[in-house]
Amino acid sequence: MNHSDDFAFPRNFKRRYSVAVRGEGVYLYDENGKRYLDACGGAAVVSIGHGVPEIIDAIAQQARQLSYVHSSQFASPVGAELAAVLAAKFPGAKQHVRVHYTSGGSEATETAIKISRAYWLARGETQRYKIISRWGSYHGTTLGALSASGNKVRRQAFAPLLPAAMEHISACFCYRCPLSLKFPACALACAEELEQTILKTGKESVAAFICEPVVGASSGAVPPEGYLRRIREICDAHGILMIADEVMTGAGRTGKYFAVEHWGVVPDMILLAKGLASGYAPLGAVLAGEKIWRAIEAGPGSLDHGFTYQGHPPSLAAGLAVQRYLEKHNLVERSRQRGEYLAKKLEGLRALPCVGDVRGKGMLQTVEFVADKASKSPFAKDFSFNFRLFENMQARGVMVYPMRGTVEDGGDHVLIAPPYVIEEAQIDFLAEQMAQALEEVGRDALAAGAGGN
Ligand SMILES: Cc1ncc(COP(=O)(O)O)c(C=O)c1O
Repeated sequence: MNHSDDFAFPRNFKRRYSVAVRGEGVYLYDENGKRYLDACGGAAVVSIGHGVPEIIDAIAQQARQLSYVHSSQFASPVGAELAAVLAAKFPGAKQHVRVHYTSGGSEATETAIKISRAYWLARGETQRYKIISRWGSYHGTTLGALSASGNKVRRQAFAPLLPAAMEHISACFCYRCPLSLKFPACALACAEELEQTILKTGKESVAAFICEPVVGASSGAVPPEGYLRRIREICDAHGILMIADEVMTGAGRTGKYFAVEHWGVVPDMILLAKGLASGYAPLGAVLAGEKIWRAIEAGPGSLDHGFTYQGHPPSLAAGLAVQRYLEKHNLVERSRQRGEYLAKKLEGLRALPCVGDVRGKGMLQTVEFVADKASKSPFAKDFSFNFRLFENMQARGVMVYPMRGTVEDGGDHVLIAPPYVIEEAQIDFLAEQMAQALEEVGRDALAAGAGGN
């Protein structure tokens, strides 16, 4: 078969992409029959593994029965059922949570931003519209979600188009603390910055604060004990909504259904996508706590916002079947257990001269590379350490997710986020291949004068 890509608009015109034709369990196969261990689930999407027949059957059955209705005209049984399942998972004291569906993470962020604004309008505080987020974060690729994001690499080209109603505070990133402090002596100064920013910008103008409880692609940073609780306290003190973007961390990725559960924090809204339908269909969700939707219900009674494909029945069927599969096979707990094993194996890479840090929770792990461990200086930007590692590992049949941007003008890291069903022997293979790949890429960097020792 000729897979000519002459008409496809690729992410990168300088690359030739391998053509994937099949997925099964933790493996992907290309058109030449080559097998790849999917150690990153695409972009931390695939939670239960590829090609699970009961998910595919659920989608097919739903498509046969009812493939589409517009959310302004009909609800669907599958939408109601999945919403009840997700609402019951909302952390904290029991409350009546409602679920707004989207087709992915960026749409979920956009929706949460608009719900925040609608909430304050409904409450009569019409001057509240600003969203505060953090540098070194990612909330999506659409312009509103990108403005809330603090990933400078991804913002760069579009900066003139990003609305100014978004304020950013420092990242909570201990390995490269932007405030040059050390935990716990820092007394969570990065969280205190939220309060200072609220006061500086005018607390009566702030609608919400949004953060990834564990940062995903931008750095993989895990907050220290107390950080998220302090953030919650500050939001409460100023009556500001707290939105947890769990697009990457949610649905069990970090070893609990929601990452905020590691710290006992209850946000006002939680965003899900990626692992929610494990890549079987595009699906995202905004889980809104009771006070949010009740205010909107009692106020205008409607939200002037929506997507043609929100609540798409086959996607919802995929999400529902994935939730059942997670339950049936106890996969959130598996994510926790195997995640500990994964973290231990990746920790072994620290012995290599080019590995600066290994961090993460559960099945969301990040390895950061440095030219010099003591100074944490990055490799030369144009050497593209992360991408070379990705290519080296892809040649070995292992997929990792390469990223840059932990340092103002560079910095390389990769995300390791396999399906929760990965076996220990497969994790061993991943770690072995990564160690060998890192030795090779590290040698190449040295030879190219890109840094390293
Ligand atoms: C934390 C977070 N939020 C939002 C998004 C955007 O999701 P999507 O790519 O599905 O639009 C991502 C995607 O990587 C993410 O990691």
